[in-house]
Formats: sequence, C-alpha cells, structure tokens
Amino acid sequence: MPEAKPKSAITIRDLNSFEDLQKAEALEREVWGLADLDVLPPTMAVATKEAGSIWVGAFDSAELVGFAFGFLGLECGQLILHSHMLAVRDSYRDLDLGYKLKLAQRERALALRIHDARSKDARITEMTWTFDPLQSKNAHLNFSKLGVVSDKYKVNFYGPETSSVLHRNGTDRLWVTWPLESRRVRDRIQGKENRLELVDALSRLTPLIRFNGDGKPATSDLSTAVARQRIAIEIPSDIGFIEQKDPALAREWREATRWAFMEALQAGFFVADFCRTVRGKQGPGAYLLEKGTIEEYVPEMARNPVS
Ligand SMILES: CC(C)(COP(=O)(O)OP(=O)(O)OC[C@H]1O[C@@H](n2cnc3c(N)ncnc32)[C@H](O)[C@@H]1OP(=O)(O)O)[C@@H](O)C(=O)NCCC(=O)NCCS
Repeated sequence: MPEAKPKSAITIRDLNSFEDLQKAEALEREVWGLADLDVLPPTMAVATKEAGSIWVGAFDSAELVGFAFGFLGLECGQLILHSHMLAVRDSYRDLDLGYKLKLAQRERALALRIHDARSKDARITEMTWTFDPLQSKNAHLNFSKLGVVSDKYKVNFYGPETSSVLHRNGTDRLWVTWPLESRRVRDRIQGKENRLELVDALSRLTPLIRFNGDGKPATSDLSTAVARQRIAIEIPSDIGFIEQKDPALAREWREATRWAFMEALQAGFFVADFCRTVRGKQGPGAYLLEKGTIEEYVPEMARNPVS
C-alpha cells in the first residue's frame, strides 16, 4: 500500500479512457472485495460513460486512489443523477477525497443542460444515492459534510448479502437525496457548522434506539417517541469492528435500527441530520429525525406534479 499523500498532491478529473475505467474496476474490487459476478463489467462501464453518466476519479500521479460513478435516472418523473459508487482506497481515507469527489459530481451534474421541447433549459438539481445507515463515517460524510436528507429506508436493498466484505450484515440502505442548489447544501459546503444546535437538540431527547453501557442497542417506548417533534436513533461509531468481532451483536444493531427507522418514517418523520460521538469521543453517533415533510424542511425540493 502506498503512503497517503497530502491533499494537495491529489488531482480530481473525469475518467475518460478505457484504461481509466479499468483502474476504477480494480479499485472497486479492492474496496468492496467483490466476486466477479458483483463487479460492474467493463463493457457496461464504457456504455454508461458514452451514454452520459458521470465518472470522476482522484489521482495520485497516474494512480487512481478514489472514484465516483453516477448515472442519470428518473425519480417521480424528475431527472436526477443517481450516484451508484463512491470509493476511496483505504490508505487515502479521511483526507477529504470522498467529499471532493461528491463536489466534483455535483459540479458536473449542475453543468448538464437537458434539451426538451417544453423547457429549453432543464437542469439536474438533485442527486440520490444509498448508504448503510449503520456506517457512522458515511453518515457523517453524507449528512454533516454534504447535507443530504432522507425519507426512504430500503430493507436488504441488494438482497440479504453480496460477495462484498462490506455487505455481511444485510444490505439495508437509506435512500438519500442531495438537493444540489438548496440553501442547506450551499451552507454545508461552505463549512457552516450546525453541530452545536444538533448536540443541543439531541441532548433533549431520549433516543428511540440508544447505545447501552454494554454496547448493545436498547429500545425506548415507540408511542412516546412518535408523539414528539423529533426522534433520535443512535448507532455505534464503528460497526465494521463489531461485524468482525461479534456478528450477532452487529445483527442486533441492524434489527433494532431497521425497526426504529421504519417505524419513525411510517409515523411521518424524515431523517434530517447526523451527529457523531454525541456522548464523548468513544460514544455513539446519533441521527436526528424531524416530524413533517422534507419539502417543508428544504423548500427547494418541492416538486411540480407530473402532468
Ligand atoms: C465512504 C468513503 C468513500 C469516504 O471517503 P473519505 O475520503 O474517507 O471521506 P472524507 O475524508 O471526505 O470524509 C470522511 C469523514 O468521516 C470522518 N470519520 C472517519 N471515521 C468516522 C467514524 N467512525 N464516524 C464518523 N465519522 C468518521 C472523517 O473524520 C471525515 O470527516 P471530517 O472531514 O469532518 O473530519 C470511504 O470510506 C470508502 O471508500 N468506503 C468504502 C466504500 C463505501 O462505503 N462507499 C460509499 C457508499 S457507496
């Protein structure tokens, strides 16, 4: 493994050639530890690139150390960019590369111009992707650094498991939306902090799922939780470690958080934010869910009905 380099040495650019896409395939295998069947075939990668998908990479000289891949999709009749993969080589993590790759996707999505007969200047204003809500790091990147929101929980999205070393505890996912031009997202990427308000809000709540002293998930009363305006759901700070050391405990976390997210979303809440290490450095992180609709919370997401 190469030594991680300072951020300034890394270049972010589009993946253009077949060789670039082959490097992405190699990195996909490395990061997810996938069997052949689960790797995106090179022919498909070339076809998606040619048909308008966005492939961006982070390079250390000629070496690809991270990439993001997003394809165009339709959600409620609206054209969106769905980001299917974001990966950074292990030795280059926590250097902001994941964040910079997301910003590069955003910039390219906003630059796309869609010609249609009715509106001459249609644009993509939302990106979507999924992530495992038990992954504290991804939750921090997605909610805290980027400003996504979510009102959809998908049970075993890719099936009960795949060949990936990262998919051994089921494949539940939060489906998140990134409203690219919203005030919320612009504030987050300008580095406007909301951690103090978040910590304050969370400190007033008894979490629906909380990290017990013994490291297990403990459940609070559902009817009391949904009667309030906000709900907190805690997760461990390193589920990967728990998956390796105690798969049964990891499974307990999956079942408890799955139940809590599904009940809360069903009761009219959405996932608004995530705050890591709420109760001290080694402690768990917590999601904050708000009652109401995402459109009230992020007005730029109000959609015109499809005619
Ligand atoms: C998810 C991934 C792309 C992030 O890449 P990255 O380059 O490390 O991301 P960044 O450096 O931009 O951001 C990581 C943030 O998480 C923080 N972090 C690290 N460990 C954490 C933890 N256990 N809990 C909470 N936050 C954590 C880092 O400190 C950093 O935040 P900061 O800049 O505010 O300090 C990378 O970890 C990866 O490839 N993971 C495996 C594949 C994957 O999960 N892909 C995404 C879903 S498809």
